[in-house]
Amino acid sequence: MKLLVTIFYAIIFLSSLFSYYLFKKERRRHKQTARLPPGSMGWPCIGETLQMYSQDPSVFFASKQKRYGDIFKTRILGCPCVMLASPEAARFVLVTQPHLFKPTYPKSKEKLIGPSALFFHHGSYHARMRKLVQSSFSPEATRKLIPDIETIAISSLESWANGQVISTFLEMKKYAFEVGILSIFGQLNKTYTYQLKENYSILEKGYNCFPTKLPGTAYHKASMARRRLNQILEEIVRERKENKLVAGNLLGHLLNFRDQKGNTLSDQQIADNIIGVLFAAQDTTASILTWILKYLNDDPKLLDAVKAEQKAICESEYGGNPTLTWAKTRKMPLTYRVILESLRKASIISFTFREAAVDVEYKGYLIPKGWKVMPLFRNIHHNPEFFTDPGNFDPFRFENPPKPNTYMPFGNGIHACPGNELAKLEMFVLLHHMLMKYRWELVGSASLIQYSPFPVPEHGLRVSAPFVLDKIRELAPSLRMVHSINALTWPFCLDSSERVVAINVSI
Ligand code: HEM
Ligand SMILES: *[C@@H]1O[C@H](CO)[C@@H](O)[C@H](O)[C@H]1NC(C)=O
Ligand SMILES: *[C@@H]1O[C@H](CO)[C@@H](O)[C@H](O)[C@H]1NC(C)=O
Repeated sequence: MKLLVTIFYAIIFLSSLFSYYLFKKERRRHKQTARLPPGSMGWPCIGETLQMYSQDPSVFFASKQKRYGDIFKTRILGCPCVMLASPEAARFVLVTQPHLFKPTYPKSKEKLIGPSALFFHHGSYHARMRKLVQSSFSPEATRKLIPDIETIAISSLESWANGQVISTFLEMKKYAFEVGILSIFGQLNKTYTYQLKENYSILEKGYNCFPTKLPGTAYHKASMARRRLNQILEEIVRERKENKLVAGNLLGHLLNFRDQKGNTLSDQQIADNIIGVLFAAQDTTASILTWILKYLNDDPKLLDAVKAEQKAICESEYGGNPTLTWAKTRKMPLTYRVILESLRKASIISFTFREAAVDVEYKGYLIPKGWKVMPLFRNIHHNPEFFTDPGNFDPFRFENPPKPNTYMPFGNGIHACPGNELAKLEMFVLLHHMLMKYRWELVGSASLIQYSPFPVPEHGLRVSAPFVLDKIRELAPSLRMVHSINALTWPFCLDSSERVVAINVSI
């Protein structure tokens, strides 16, 4: 017996020694073969953030790409990053090896939105929540919302048509918010809608702010608003449970959810995912709608052609009935191509962030564990190899489908946008009613209005953040394109001169 135990221990000892030796050898081999991608890292703290901000970021990325190729390293807001500018590399990270890369957001933003929101997660919780969100925003589910979305679009347009000047972006935000509420709750008591809207608008002002508990700061106000949002959501949930009003919208799906063990979701998980969807749905949809109107306004011939398509659909086939149906949206190829081309040209989500969960080797390069990885959607969308004359707004290029994996306005892979059908439908509905019934004019489009991107570095580098921003202002007072790096998260890229397109709407 004693002998057996000794042999057992000896085997354990020897095998661990052997595996240690193998491990060392493996590491050495790894070190020898894989090297870091080319590129410069800039200063240890701020890296190349300043350069990226002080010129058009597309130019910054493109010049790097020219110099180093499709994969290069840099440092942004203190974080070492590997940037990926080829469709294959983006596919590697997002589609074929997504388990090697996890989503990464600044902690402060995660706290405000709610840490249980699906896009912060990876693995089984993400997969479960994603299935639920996807089924709530499936084409079948969104189709049913058309009449209600139309009602919202028509009343939005009527509210603009008083002859006063409006800011397109801000008005589109209101529209996108209302549609978001509709798709999450179905019909909701106006009192709740109003309370959610008021408190959410305070919350969103804190997303890109310096995180602090100091009363009076935007971040602190946002945290307080987030708590009130929890209270409102809890009340709605309680009411729905009491009245058994559990329908096919997102909240209904969240309430009906049971995992394998029969557990339901907590109130916190429900609230975080609702706020998460509002966050994902509002500014994205609003900014692309703003861009579409800008592009149409820049090309009167195209605008006329799109209007003609809208009119023809309603007049010839449907007896002049201006209400929209799913079937009608399928018969508007030009309008659809304008939407697709706007998504390409504006590339409002110009890149995304992931973090290497382990050391990863790609094409002979080492991406060390903990480094950020950025698939550069905008660069791919603006690469003349995939889209000829990429600076030109040309909806007709979509008469032929783009090459595989070169067109990713809604991302790709396991985190790709589950709201893309809803977003496109919102665009169809708003454009339809606006083009059929209204004329508008641009007012003072050249004013330089900056999107204020408060870059909050992920961990530790908080002190340098306000400095970076001041420096940018100093260096580039007439910054044209302000790229919201959004503290290492979804960057909405808005041309500063065009973000707020003031328009004068009249019947
Ligand atoms: C034109 C408007 C929109 C654009 C351009 C857009 C774009 C994107 C992109 C690129 C991603 C992937 C981000 C990444 O991989 O890191 C994403 C994710 C997401 N989007 Fe959208 N989106 C839009 C509208 C919406 C709407 C209306 C909803 C509402 C349902 C929505 C909900 C989401 C959610 C929940 C995720 C996270 C998915 C996950 O992590 O699994 N989006 N969106
Ligand atoms: C909406 O909610 C408010 C307060 O919670 C209540 O007074 C009102 O009767 C509700 N309206 C409807 C239509 O349910
Ligand atoms: C925010 O929510 C609370 C309920 O928790 C509500 O009383 C209040 O009117 C809402 N709006 C603002 C601006 O606080």
